[in-house]
Amino acid sequence: MDFLETKKTAVIEQVKARQIFDSRGTPTVEATVTLTDGSCGTASVPSGASTGMFEACELRDGYEELNGKGVTQAVGNVNTIVSKGLMGLNPCDQKLIDDQMIELDGTKNKSKVGANGILAVSLATAKAAANFHRIPLYRYLGGMNGITLPVPMMNILNGGAHASNNVDIQEFMIMPVGAESFSKGMQMCVEIYHALGKLLKERNLSTGVGDEGGFAPNLEHDEQALELILEAIQKAGYQPQEDIRIALDAASSEWYRDGHYLFPKKQKRITQSELMDYFEDLIRKYPIVSLEDPLAEEDFTGFQQFTKRVGEKVQIVGDDLFVTNKERLQRGIDLNSANAILIKPNQIGTLTETLETIRLAKQHGYRTIISHRSGETEDTTIADIAVAVNAGEIKTGAPARTDRICKYNRLLAIEQELGKSANYPGNSIFS
Ligand code: PGA
Ligand code: ZN
Repeated sequence: MDFLETKKTAVIEQVKARQIFDSRGTPTVEATVTLTDGSCGTASVPSGASTGMFEACELRDGYEELNGKGVTQAVGNVNTIVSKGLMGLNPCDQKLIDDQMIELDGTKNKSKVGANGILAVSLATAKAAANFHRIPLYRYLGGMNGITLPVPMMNILNGGAHASNNVDIQEFMIMPVGAESFSKGMQMCVEIYHALGKLLKERNLSTGVGDEGGFAPNLEHDEQALELILEAIQKAGYQPQEDIRIALDAASSEWYRDGHYLFPKKQKRITQSELMDYFEDLIRKYPIVSLEDPLAEEDFTGFQQFTKRVGEKVQIVGDDLFVTNKERLQRGIDLNSANAILIKPNQIGTLTETLETIRLAKQHGYRTIISHRSGETEDTTIADIAVAVNAGEIKTGAPARTDRICKYNRLLAIEQELGKSANYPGNSIFS
């Protein structure tokens, strides 16, 4: 953070973690970092349901209480090992802080201290440093360059591991590419979300919601979700394709079984090549602009084939494939396995590594989508990161439930603060 170096630095005086609960009522870690001048920062970490097998370790107690999901060991590790190790360090040297925690942990996947504890401290340190400099987090992380409000990838219909309905595809999302600003894009998405709710009600379909706030009705087949969304877009007065494009997250690692795939809810078995044909057919029929995890998390070559087939037309996003991990992303770059990466800080465990992965992606022309998890808290750090790094896209659920909407509301505040400097890429992210 060169541009800030004129101010004398305070050092870390206290690191304190606690067990809180996420949007599913599952325990998670929150940490507060306090500096010698009294500045402090607090951050909490989210948690996935369709978790990638190559993610950093979310340390859970495994005791009988709280279904084994308690995080008192991760909290204890922060309050002892990490707290001692960070005492007196410069909070503005994020790499120093994060490297120190990686060293204290000493494992490849952060399983000793727990990536959940480490990330909470990593993010809380950045917030404390921003507060010390009396500037917002996006400015602290991005300087004068971070001015791009992301295009939302807004999940309005939930299936898969995020809902107890009969839909296998995990996320059906809308992207307001035709909007001239972030706030206008939000308005469009909210209107479409409400139009979809009305439509479901008229058809006697459930308007109950899934983990990310999108509706979770039982449908005749997954394609019906796309038909309903197209209708809702039009009912709200917008043009599919021109104003709004559709994004899907298949989360297909959840379907993978020894060499083939099984739609678990429909109990339909298909091969890898049939799965690719299925998606290609959907892409032909609907204004789909982005497809996440179409194949399983170990299938780098399947991803390569699929990107060769449709990558010119569609954004192919690696989530469970890359798990925000630089080495896995490099492998994908070498093989041309995708053209975009989902960025989830808790998949890797520190802010420094998250930013390094984003940098590597950008160097190689990969698009970046900053993302929440299906289990979230009121923490809005990902909104600031998205603007700071000019990510271009954000995935943070439906315009419903505070754990989702708080990130959008934070972006609205940033947009206002940036004023005329604010940039909204709209359609240009795909050109
Ligand atoms: P998760 O889902 O947070 O449950 O892993 C989000 C995603 O797959 O993108
Ligand atoms: Zn995903």
